[in-house]
Amino acid sequence: MAITVLPAIRLFKLSTAHTHYSFRVNDLDEVEHISYGPEVDDVASLVQVENPGRLVAFAPQPEECDNDSISSKDILSQEFSGFNTGDYRVPALIVQAADGTRATDPRFVSYRIYAGTPLLSELPCAYAGKCEGVETLELKLQDSVTGVSSYLSYTVFPECDVIVRGVRIVNEGASTVDLSRVMSLQLDLRSGSYDMVRLAGAWARERHMERSAVHHGVQSISSTRGMSSHMMNPAFALTDRHATEDSGDAYGFILAYSGNFLGEVELDQMESTRVVLGINPALFSWKLESGEAFEAPQAFMTYSREGLGGMSRQFHDFFRQHWLPERWALAERPILINNWEATYFDFTTEKLLNIARTAAALGVEMLVLDDGWFGKRPDDFSGLGDWTVNTAKLGNMAELARGINALGMKFGLWFEPEMISQDSDLYRAHPDWAISIPGRSRSLGRHQMILDFGRPEVVDCIFRQMKKLLDEVNIEYIKWDCNRHMTENYSAVLPAERQGEAAHRFVLGTYRLYRMLLAEFPNLLIEGCSGGGGRFDAGILRYSPQIWCSDNSDAGERVDIQLGTSLFYPASTMGAHVSACPNHQTGRVTRFETRGHIAMSGTFGYELDLAKLNDEERAMVSCQTAQYHRLNPILASGDFYRLNELDDNDALDGWCVVAKDRQKGFVTIYRRNVIANFRGSRFKLKGLDEHAIYRLDDPYRSGELIVSGGALMTQGFWFELPPGDNASRLIEFSVVS
Ligand code: DGJ
Repeated sequence: MAITVLPAIRLFKLSTAHTHYSFRVNDLDEVEHISYGPEVDDVASLVQVENPGRLVAFAPQPEECDNDSISSKDILSQEFSGFNTGDYRVPALIVQAADGTRATDPRFVSYRIYAGTPLLSELPCAYAGKCEGVETLELKLQDSVTGVSSYLSYTVFPECDVIVRGVRIVNEGASTVDLSRVMSLQLDLRSGSYDMVRLAGAWARERHMERSAVHHGVQSISSTRGMSSHMMNPAFALTDRHATEDSGDAYGFILAYSGNFLGEVELDQMESTRVVLGINPALFSWKLESGEAFEAPQAFMTYSREGLGGMSRQFHDFFRQHWLPERWALAERPILINNWEATYFDFTTEKLLNIARTAAALGVEMLVLDDGWFGKRPDDFSGLGDWTVNTAKLGNMAELARGINALGMKFGLWFEPEMISQDSDLYRAHPDWAISIPGRSRSLGRHQMILDFGRPEVVDCIFRQMKKLLDEVNIEYIKWDCNRHMTENYSAVLPAERQGEAAHRFVLGTYRLYRMLLAEFPNLLIEGCSGGGGRFDAGILRYSPQIWCSDNSDAGERVDIQLGTSLFYPASTMGAHVSACPNHQTGRVTRFETRGHIAMSGTFGYELDLAKLNDEERAMVSCQTAQYHRLNPILASGDFYRLNELDDNDALDGWCVVAKDRQKGFVTIYRRNVIANFRGSRFKLKGLDEHAIYRLDDPYRSGELIVSGGALMTQGFWFELPPGDNASRLIEFSVVS
């Protein structure tokens, strides 16, 4: 049983294969968090040892227990904290009542347990899939004055040690209320000193790992950009101070949401650490009439005593078994060639067919036609919103697709559905569909504006245009781009008191378009993108099993980006391509071989003019496409191990991916800067069967290497790297039968 209840002491315990999570309802009907960590048999004992002694909160306590300082909410570990009723820390819920007051005090009312997962109506949600034993606990809490109820859900995925949290707020009172803050997840860790590990960055420098000690007060990650953003990712970890890649406590938190988010960590006066994660209240409010409900996005949490690496692998399993679109979760993805960096806007049918012919002969499986095929779009100043083929430039797209199919390749197409150019027929017909605040000058990003996807008729119009094309042309893949962030949040159809809903309604509209497309075209493969990796989040991953990781395809820079991304997201979700050199983003020249080694640890493809390659490089393309067919299944379901410590040394990076049965895998090593006479290129592999004998296929070593898993993991393996900076090696290994 994943969920057990001890009614006598009103204690709830959620169990996964290696962890437990527990809370109880106290005498005041407050839901008090007990513990989250490694599995324990006897949770009742955990309650008994939780006697805080003579703490002085210097904070008021409920009237019922006047003078009992330890009863103050301010030092109570809670599952879902209210506001303005004694807890001064960052809250989970703030509700403004009809009388203008903002006091919220959610207390326990009831619970129910059911098999399987909750179904959210407008937001992405997890599924049980093939795994048995998935159960959900739903708690009902209520603020007795407003009648606002909070339904907290805890869905337990035992085999991958993940618990998915959800919150539905229902106004069961008589008067209208305003929600000003609804956090999807709260976790109050009673003790411990933690580091916070987050993914920070910028355009072309997304998701670099950053680790710092949690200090007193609040530290946060956030976005108010309307999208999850390049700058901060809606996921973070807390580790104990000494945790490494392989050992120590690591807690991970991911919000399944693609819009404005806020994650806060607060170390309080009693050295307890509170975590909250949810929609960013800065640009949010939601009016709830009596009887109405509001659903918050789901949030995932996991705990591992095997450090950051263990945490990552648990999340990777969860994504692949319970979150990515089931059609694609473990399926091999086509090796693609995208024309963007080969041609930018300057392409013709003949140019595209030439790229496809060369690519097909080298083992590439799909041609993706990027930006510039539609409306009037000679550059990025116009055309967005007019999703009809520019026949003057391309002729008949169905014929182009047939030509590509005749080469044995699939055909894919770029869209930017939420965007609109002022110079477009759509804008001329519906200027009010573009988001801006009347009377206020508006901001442009890449010369474009954003459609108000909170309006169903806007989403319907874009859907109709996309569907028409997908009906007429054999399009098997879409690259869904999104190239600017939100400003001047507003919706022309919302009354003044509901303007705080605009940003969230936009996100819901985006998810709705995804669902409509996938309902109509269930085999469609949609790759997410947002100026590279500006919307790389779990929300998008529920519909897009892969996301273009970054516009920066420089191999060395990609190492940091992909390793950072791997902290939470599986390698199979990261779009990674071999691009031209000098690299278009950095100007760096890197060996073709190395560009392949790094890109092969994601969903693989090319982004260059293959016709410009020399014979040796073309031969390498053939080898890479063949090799990727061997690596892809391992990448799709295997275990990912980062081989060096966070911030360890800048010279070398490495990772290995090992099949679940530990029979085979591969290891990639990248050396950024060569250091003379440096012994550092010895790497200990991880995740192998210590008793098995492995053969390593290293073409740069004379003779094959046949050694035990134990030796590879304890002694390590000496890598021969080519001379110079930006050198790499990818070595496959398998158990000798
Ligand atoms: C940004 C994307 O990240 C690129 O790959 C490319 O699709 C351009 N947009 C096209 O405008």
